[in-house]
Amino acid sequence: MNFEVLRIGQRVVRDDRVTTHVALVARAFGASKIYMNEVNPEIKDTLNKINRTWGGNFEIEFISDWKKVIKEKKTNSVKIVHLTMYGENINKLITSLQKEENILIVVGAEKVPREVYDFADYNVAIGNQPHSEISALAVLLDRIQEGSQFLTKFENPAREIIPTKRGKNVIMKETMDK
Ligand SMILES: C[S@@+](CC[C@H](N)C(=O)[O-])C[C@H]1O[C@@H](n2cnc3c(N)ncnc32)[C@H](O)[C@@H]1O
Repeated sequence: MNFEVLRIGQRVVRDDRVTTHVALVARAFGASKIYMNEVNPEIKDTLNKINRTWGGNFEIEFISDWKKVIKEKKTNSVKIVHLTMYGENINKLITSLQKEENILIVVGAEKVPREVYDFADYNVAIGNQPHSEISALAVLLDRIQEGSQFLTKFENPAREIIPTKRGKNVIMKETMDK
């Protein structure tokens, strides 16, 4: 399966930390790319540095027209999965979601425009209580992949963690000044 994420809108009060965390979760939980609008350009540098340090080719694209992204994906048979507390419960949809090949996951920051609900092939609620786009994204990706995303090796890392019972064990594969 291939997952991409589209985050629509930041809050009026700058929300860079949450936006960065949405991108970090997308990368760590197996998505290949995130599209974002209204973001601080420094977020791209932060994510590129994470890629250089910990590996992989996670992509970040800044966009100005989220509708264009959704329409293009739909034309290419990508399923649109909108995360919203108003949607159908994940428990009801999980079997269908696991059968899809390509998914664009849409998360909001503030109130999401009505059209997103109509564009979506699935409006998915991670429970019908309000929480956060970070947690909703993590739970969705984990439920679909059932933990298999954590077996993925990220390519060409400069640093690699050797899991250990106590403390930190990190292999330095190359210098970071590239
Ligand atoms: C802080 S919430 C804002 C919700 C906003 N009040 C609204 O009406 O859309 C930001 C995003 O988190 C996600 N989210 C929050 N709770 C959720 C839930 N229970 N299930 C799925 N997604 C959720 C949605 O993507 C939402 O757009």
